[in-house]
Amino acid sequence: MPTETVYGLAASIESTAGLRRVFSLKERPFFDPLIVHVASFKQAQSLTSDWSPLADFLARLHWPGPLTLVLPKAEHVNPLITSGLETVGIRYPAHPVALKLIETLGSPVAAPSANKFGRTSPTSPDHVRSEFPDSKLLILDGGECDIGVESTVATIEDNHLVKILRPGAITKEMLQKVLKKWAHPTEVIRETSQASPGHLKHHYMPNIPLVIVPREEPLTDSAELSAQVRLRIQNEIGKPAQRAVELHLSEDPSLAARELYSEMRRLAETGADCIFVRKREAQDGLWSAIWDRLNRAASLDLTSAG
Ligand code: TXA
Ligand code: MG
Repeated sequence: MPTETVYGLAASIESTAGLRRVFSLKERPFFDPLIVHVASFKQAQSLTSDWSPLADFLARLHWPGPLTLVLPKAEHVNPLITSGLETVGIRYPAHPVALKLIETLGSPVAAPSANKFGRTSPTSPDHVRSEFPDSKLLILDGGECDIGVESTVATIEDNHLVKILRPGAITKEMLQKVLKKWAHPTEVIRETSQASPGHLKHHYMPNIPLVIVPREEPLTDSAELSAQVRLRIQNEIGKPAQRAVELHLSEDPSLAARELYSEMRRLAETGADCIFVRKREAQDGLWSAIWDRLNRAASLDLTSAG
């Protein structure tokens, strides 16, 4: 199903067989929990044992939209969805087709991004088809996704601490701003520990290696990397990088996010040996989500020490 962020592989939360199929199609390990998608506040509340005033405040401001709230799970939520955790990720997407699907089905759907585990998320129906060429999937065509990167995943601790587990289009700055209107003092932090389930170092990877290079990396006329950088890439990825193609990011972060995955897919099909992207200074706002994905998608980062 299409959503405003990326396409999802959806199964009714009532169907254990459907949920199992999602894991097997994606080749996803059972330790990585799924997000439950709802089409109403009532459905959201039914999934959690603690719909706190702060959760309600954030949900009313940002739903429907690209924010997933990780909240204490209601007892009836299938442990397959939550990987046995005591919490459940809940999202109310802002795409009419997703909402219609959930309303028609009459139950929330669990939906991870519709890609093989660890790979680039799909932002168009064609991407989904190319991820699962052999399976008889029903693909609901909602056109290209507007946002292009997955939702912000956040959890609330002790009624005052909002922890961002995965950055997205609802940025830290936006959350900090709206929380100034909340009755009690709050703090918004970015949780960077690897302890969060599913937030693995390597994720979102294209089919050929992605390399992060310094902004000022000189290029020859043929748009190839310098010999020195090529050698480092060869050492790291174990084969010569004869031809590298550049992933150009728009200066406008909304556009950069929207085009990110389709560009990564397109460049991986050009016959090049690797993709390179130039590091940029701006890491705030939506750039935080874009660089989170690029850092995890990269096989090699020539800008980091060591
Ligand atoms: O935008 C999105 O969120 C898309 C669209 C389809 O809605 N979905 C998506 O799902 O990105 P997925 O499965 O690719 O990513 C879900 C992330 C994973 O990193 C998972 O670990 C985290 O959410 N997550 C889900 N439930 C969680 C929980 N109870 N505690 C911590 N993290 C959780
Ligand atoms: Mg995913």
